[in-house]
Amino acid sequence: MGSDSEISEKLIKWYEINKRDLPWRESVDPYIIWISEIILQQTRVVQGMDYFLRFTRRFPNVVSLAKAEEEEVLKYWQGLGYYSRARNLHAAAKDIMNRFQGEFPTRYEDVLSLKGIGEYTAAAIVSFAWNKPYAVVDGNVYRVLARLFALNAPVDTGAGKKLFSELATLLLNKKYPGIHNQAIMELGALQ
Ligand code: ADE
Repeated sequence: MGSDSEISEKLIKWYEINKRDLPWRESVDPYIIWISEIILQQTRVVQGMDYFLRFTRRFPNVVSLAKAEEEEVLKYWQGLGYYSRARNLHAAAKDIMNRFQGEFPTRYEDVLSLKGIGEYTAAAIVSFAWNKPYAVVDGNVYRVLARLFALNAPVDTGAGKKLFSELATLLLNKKYPGIHNQAIMELGALQ
């Protein structure tokens, strides 16, 4: 690894020692990663865990989710709130059936085109599943970058978002983007 990856190397070492054992981390299935990231968008890990396990047991893949009635999908979401997340998951699963023959798309742009998937979630899916070099940028990543680079830039402006996004991309370990992304998110979450 070159010197530009020294921070990333440290991050990954820290992660290997300190990471939480979370069920979705054992998977490189883009569908499983997708479900976990949507649940974790507005839900804490501790609360989301049971929902994740029950949801993926009942709907283990795109086909089973696409075939289900919306009412049943919503039943598995009951108590989590922000029900548009569940409706979007269902709509996107059907969309994957129609546009991608039921195969989860591998191109970042195609993933981003799915309902309910923004830049953060698309980057998480393609980096965790296929090690594609897209940097995740969420609240946890903002926190780490702000500390690391002693930044006070606002994150609620276009310019601030762009700056953080560029820094995250610079810092990204191009050889191990998946684990790098997991590590930077975990550091932000735990510290
Ligand atoms: N929050 C959002 N995504 C997460 C993940 N993959 N693991 C832990 N916390 C998260």
